[in-house]
Amino acid sequence: MDDFKRREFIKLSAIGFASIALQLNSISSYAQSANAHFGKWYKDTSLNWDAFLERLTQLAKAQHKPHWEQKRYTEQVKQLLLNCNFPEFENVKKEIESFKNKTPNWIEAARLHKEVDFQVSLFQFEKGEYISHHDHPDMTGVINVVSGNLLTKNYSITEQLSTTREVIKNGRKEVLRKCTIREVGNEVVKGGDVSILTADEGNIHSIMPNELTQLIDVFTPAYKPDTNANWYKVNEDEFYMGRENIFEAEYTIKDLSEVHTITLSGEELNRYVGSYKINDKNFLKIFRKDEEIILERTRSLDASGRKISLLPYEQNKFWVSGEDTRCIFNMDGRKAPKSITLYTIPGAGVTANKIM
Ligand SMILES: [Fe+2]
Repeated sequence: MDDFKRREFIKLSAIGFASIALQLNSISSYAQSANAHFGKWYKDTSLNWDAFLERLTQLAKAQHKPHWEQKRYTEQVKQLLLNCNFPEFENVKKEIESFKNKTPNWIEAARLHKEVDFQVSLFQFEKGEYISHHDHPDMTGVINVVSGNLLTKNYSITEQLSTTREVIKNGRKEVLRKCTIREVGNEVVKGGDVSILTADEGNIHSIMPNELTQLIDVFTPAYKPDTNANWYKVNEDEFYMGRENIFEAEYTIKDLSEVHTITLSGEELNRYVGSYKINDKNFLKIFRKDEEIILERTRSLDASGRKISLLPYEQNKFWVSGEDTRCIFNMDGRKAPKSITLYTIPGAGVTANKIM
């Protein structure tokens, strides 16, 4: 209750100085939020963004109970999502209208809301921007396609196989393990439909959009800095040992992976120092600390963020310590960096241009 009062107080006091029209809006928003908070919410209630978040905040508390019934929870979130007309919400509309395909062959993601218990993101895919098999460790995911359609396949792990092998990839020794997975879902999800995964069922999925597609995804809990998602190479050509709907898959055991670092001189390291910009809300700062360089990701130039060491494995190429992320400094003719490209996901790179 106190929590609710405080949240509403902040919202209302911020709006208090705005125009009368805005105040009227806030009153109806307040009423909807209050109803959502008190559970006065029915299957056909159409909600605004604030009420949606209030209701979700309430529902997501279920994860702290000793036995979290994820099936029940995800079904509740599904019903909630189906009662929101997301393209009409101002924040969603703004993101959709300003859509630019900044990363060709990869999705555009916008984080609409994040708190520890849950996270709401908007993903926009162009046709064919395939997301290969990956998991969501200890999370549930409820996807609401708001426009377009996509083919989603969901799998659950059935068995860890003892087979492992080592490969050297981009200066890193990777230990790969095989497992088997069972396909538990294979469907085209259209605008207005919902797809669900829980920690135990269908937690691995792949996504193939058949046209320009927008979706809202509710992750519970939210991603944390140490959320370690795995990417799987799946042999979809045949069933594993002829067993129906069972496939062999392989993934990297991150704890056993090691970067073979090289030594760079202080002068070489200093070359990379500076500020780099991905977009107006995402910056990378590189600075020296002792004998290494540090990467700091921030929302603005004067903000601070998480600081992580960069491990050099070749000239101009580094691994982000403890992460499945590589970065490459793109050099100009005078051997000075003009940008950094971060590779966080197989096949996808995001480039930040040097601005200072
Ligand atoms: Fe996913």
